[in-house]
Amino acid sequence: MNKKKILAIQGSFKNNGITSTMLKYAVDESQKAGYDVEYIRLHDHRIEYCKGCRKCFETGECVIKDDDMTQISKSFKDADVIILASPVYWANVPAIVKNLFDRMSGTSMEETNTFPKPRLSGKKYILLTACNTPMPFATFFGQTTGLKKAVKEYFKTSGISCIGIVVCDNTSKRKGVPSVKLNQIQRLIRKI
Ligand SMILES: Cc1cc2nc3c(=O)[nH]c(=O)nc-3n(C[C@H](O)[C@H](O)[C@H](O)COP(=O)(O)O)c2cc1C
Repeated sequence: MNKKKILAIQGSFKNNGITSTMLKYAVDESQKAGYDVEYIRLHDHRIEYCKGCRKCFETGECVIKDDDMTQISKSFKDADVIILASPVYWANVPAIVKNLFDRMSGTSMEETNTFPKPRLSGKKYILLTACNTPMPFATFFGQTTGLKKAVKEYFKTSGISCIGIVVCDNTSKRKGVPSVKLNQIQRLIRKI
């Protein structure tokens, strides 16, 4: 039987931050479970901005061929499960994650006369996120709402279904990721 392929994407610049720690734990658990894991830190790559030409919606390929998105979009196509680690910036995803979604447009979906047609159906995703606002204020003031909506919009339109989401709040007051959150991540990896 083929090993499941996991694509782990780090959307934070920080290598020892909260979301990267959550992601590294998810990677370790995935490797322990015997999955093949590819780890991509977006900040290590040259990723141009989407030009908005919309050619990719027809062709399935971005017109920009000379940056690292060619390889990254192939990694998406090859993966069974995508684990996205993204901090909350201004109640949404950081620009580098948003640009990833923009650049993945044609790889992920085809425009039709009616609804968009997903191109990555059958895959699954896990979202790991963190914000500084403590709960329940993070929820009251919608600190994670925009991020969750943007992430869901991208993955749902691509045909990729959600395994689960882990949110770590109050991050500036924490020394690391609490064990309750690590246990949540472990449970999601076991669901793969
Ligand atoms: C530019 C910027 C914007 C941020 N915006 C928010 C925000 O809107 N709400 C919030 O609760 N925390 C916000 N934060 C705090 C981060 O979400 C928090 O520090 C998180 O732990 C960062 O994740 P990391 O440690 O994995 O990089 C922001 C941080 C930065 C740098």
